[in-house]
Amino acid sequence: MSKASSRIPGFYRLPVEERRRLLRLNADLSEQDMRTLDGGGIDTAVADRVVENAVGVYALPLGVGLNFVVNGRDVLVPMAVEEPSVIAAASNAARMVREGGGFVADADDPVMTAQIEIVGVDDPDAAKARLEAASAELLALAHATLPRLADRGGGARELEVRTLPERVIVHVHVDCRDAMGANMVNTVAEALAEKVARLAGGRWGLRILTNLCDRRRVRVKARVPARALATEALDGAAVRDGIVAASRFAEDDPYRAATHNKGIMNGVDAVVIATGNDWRGVEAGAHAFAAADGRYRPLAVWRQASDGGDLVGQLEMPMAVGTVGGTLHAHAGARLAQKMLGVTDAKELAMIVGSAGLASNLAALRALATDGIQRGHMALHRKSQPVAVLEPPQPAQPLGTAAVRVEGGRT
Ligand code: MEV
Repeated sequence: MSKASSRIPGFYRLPVEERRRLLRLNADLSEQDMRTLDGGGIDTAVADRVVENAVGVYALPLGVGLNFVVNGRDVLVPMAVEEPSVIAAASNAARMVREGGGFVADADDPVMTAQIEIVGVDDPDAAKARLEAASAELLALAHATLPRLADRGGGARELEVRTLPERVIVHVHVDCRDAMGANMVNTVAEALAEKVARLAGGRWGLRILTNLCDRRRVRVKARVPARALATEALDGAAVRDGIVAASRFAEDDPYRAATHNKGIMNGVDAVVIATGNDWRGVEAGAHAFAAADGRYRPLAVWRQASDGGDLVGQLEMPMAVGTVGGTLHAHAGARLAQKMLGVTDAKELAMIVGSAGLASNLAALRALATDGIQRGHMALHRKSQPVAVLEPPQPAQPLGTAAVRVEGGRT
C-alpha cells in the first residue's frame, strides 16, 4: 500500500513536470506508471476491445486531490474532470477538514440487488408467501451461479419479495465483494427468473440490477474548526453559520438540493471516473436515494457541533464502486489511480469517493456563503483559455501549413 503524504504545499504553483516528480515520489510510481499518465491509460486498440465501433479515445484532464486524510490515512486522490476549480476546491476543503482530524468514513458491505419482475400473477400475496418459503432454495441457486464469488467470501445474502399493483418483484441481495457487481447480479436475475416465475404462478419480465443500491451506502463525517473556515473578510464563525444556512436551504428546497448535490457529484464523479468505475450508475443511485422518501433531498448536511464552535458535515449515499472486474483490467489509467490511492478493497474506495464528495460540497458552500462562486471559479476558468485549436490545412492553403485559431474557452 502507498505511504503517500497527501499534504504537498504549493503543489498547484509548480510546473507540471515538478508535480509529476513529487507525485512519483509520494505515491511510489514507476517509469511505466508515468507513461500511463501521458497516454491516458488506453489506446485505440484497447478501446476497440472495450466498446463497439471504436474510432479512438476521448481524454479528460487528470489531477490530484491533495490534503485528504480518510480514516487516519493520507490519500492522494486521482480526479478526472473537465471543470476548472473542482480539484482545487476539493483540495482546499480537504485541508480544512484535515485540521479537524480528517474524514471519518464507513461503508456497508458491497451488496448489489437483482430485480426479477413477475407479471400475470393472480394472487400476489400467496405468491409472496410461496417465494418467501422457498427463499433458502432460491438463494442456494443464486449462490451456485457465482461459484468464484462464493470462493472470495461473497454471494447471495437475502431474498426480498415486494408486490406492486401489476407485478411481483423479487429482490436478490448479493454481496459482490470488490466488484461493482452489475454483471453478477444480472446473471443471478436471469438464472433465477424461471424458477421464481413458476413459484409465483406468473411470467418473468425484466431481470436486471437496481441502481438504487441502498444497501451499499457510504457514510462520511467531517469536522472543521471554525477558524479554518475564515476568509479575509469574515471570521470562521460567520462562515460556519453561512454554510449551515446554505445546508438548510438545500434541506428545504429541492431546486437548491439539486445544485447542492451537483457540487457533491463534482468530487464523486471525478474519482469514480479516474478509477474506471460506472459513474452513470453512481449518479443514478445518488439521485434516486436523494428522492427516496418522495422529496428530493441533499446527500450531505452541515451543522454547528453540539459541543462547541466546529462545523460538522455528514454525507450518506449509495456507492457502487469496485476495484476489480469490468473494464478495470483493460484500463491502465484506472489501475494507476488505484495504485495512487493505495486502496485494497471496494469499501475503502467507496469511503474515499464519499470523502471527495463531501470535500467538494464544503468547498462550494463555503464559496457561496462568502465571496460567491464566481471569483475563484472564474479565475481558474481563465487559466484554461484562450485555447489554441490546431486545424488541419484547408484545401486552399499550401500543404504543410496548419491554421491556428484562437478561441475563447467556456465562461
Ligand atoms: C458547480 O459545479 C457546483 C456548485 O453549483 C455547487 C453548489 O452550488 O453547491 C457550486
